Amino acid sequence: MRILVLGSGAREHAIITALLREDAGHEITAAPGNAGIALAVPVIHLDPENPEVVSDFALQNDIELVIVGPEAPLVAGVADAVRRRGIPVFGPGKAAAQLEGSKTFAKRIMDEAGVPTGRAVRAGDLAAAIAAIDEFGSPYVIKADGLAAGKGVLVTDDREAAIAHAEFWLGHGSMLVEEFLDGQEVSLFLLSDGHNVLPLSPAQDYKRLADGDEGPNTGGMGAYSPLPWLPDGFVDEVIDSVALPTVRQLAKEQTPFIGLLYCGLIITKAGTRVIEFNARFGDPETQVVLPRLLTPLSGLLLAAASGELGGLPRPEFSDDVAVTVVLASEGYPETPITGRLVTGLATAEAIHGVSIAHAATALSDGALVATGGRVLSVVATGADFTEARSRVYLALEAIELDGGQYRTDIAARVAQ
Ligand code: AMP
Ligand code: GLY
Repeated sequence: MRILVLGSGAREHAIITALLREDAGHEITAAPGNAGIALAVPVIHLDPENPEVVSDFALQNDIELVIVGPEAPLVAGVADAVRRRGIPVFGPGKAAAQLEGSKTFAKRIMDEAGVPTGRAVRAGDLAAAIAAIDEFGSPYVIKADGLAAGKGVLVTDDREAAIAHAEFWLGHGSMLVEEFLDGQEVSLFLLSDGHNVLPLSPAQDYKRLADGDEGPNTGGMGAYSPLPWLPDGFVDEVIDSVALPTVRQLAKEQTPFIGLLYCGLIITKAGTRVIEFNARFGDPETQVVLPRLLTPLSGLLLAAASGELGGLPRPEFSDDVAVTVVLASEGYPETPITGRLVTGLATAEAIHGVSIAHAATALSDGALVATGGRVLSVVATGADFTEARSRVYLALEAIELDGGQYRTDIAARVAQ
């Protein structure tokens, strides 16, 4: 199949690795990709957020499936433009992508569909925000309404900090004050063709920068899959109480969700609650879900894009476990220092079970350099979490990046 993958992160590298592993002779192009992706497939420098540019390219190059990695092209309407040209695209149109692009929209859909989520108030001015902050009490949860690249949410006991965050986002659009939800977090991905859903294997993401869940929220510092502690029937419960009602509500509103419904969940004492939806594969969770996928990915994504998931069996996963640890630049997440050399990848990748998904890398005079905050996603599979963890951390010891930071406790809680 001729496939175009949009995006430039570790998630897209992991998607491409899974497609290549099928050994099906796919002709894959990535736009714009990164240095690691460029070693695997041809990359082109088109603007992935421009609907006309992407759909023209797909048409002119006889692309048979477009896979949209990040949220920005979805919110910009890239999937709509490609679909209008009659080309299958894995990713929702602009309207359905509001499930991620607007927390107010997501709350309304959940409300209409009866999906369990935290109580939230959209505050139009600071007085209303403060009133909601004091009504919900500490810990305070303040969220930007729109896309914020992982920086929109503040969870804090500090009332002044909560108010300052609310004030900032009021000046940059709108914001929500939400009830604090306490419990384990789960990321569950579901393929959707607009009507039917198929679940992938659950994963857990580590959002905070430092060990012990200290420090600021980030885009994600590591992940593992599967989650051996999940209660029996968890996935079925989420399909019935979250995914299907949401997909049906969007279909009813004539904005079908075709793509990856990412359910960000918290298991509270009172039951499972949605904390957020995303309209695309999660990063870094994809890096631990896809290496365990046994069913060919291209067939699943094409079936979703073509409205043909109904009747398909659930995707199968290996019994192996997977762990990923993100190597980030000094200064991440506030002001990452870029341009530094990254070395030792060949030694790291020679370790059994280890692979590296590039996130923000480029070649400069033949040397690999970091170009952003999250630089690499080091992945290891193993028979159990002890084995996968020892492999992933051995690999990280082999990699050099001045000032590089990574968490040392990823998947520690599930290792024997
Ligand atoms: P989000 O971008 O909405 O996924 O939020 C980022 C992170 O903030 C989540 O993964 C949670 O760790 C935390 N968070 C978000 N909403 C809540 C909430 N209502 N209660 C507790 N923690 C939350
Ligand atoms: N890992 C969180 C996200 O992809 O949004």
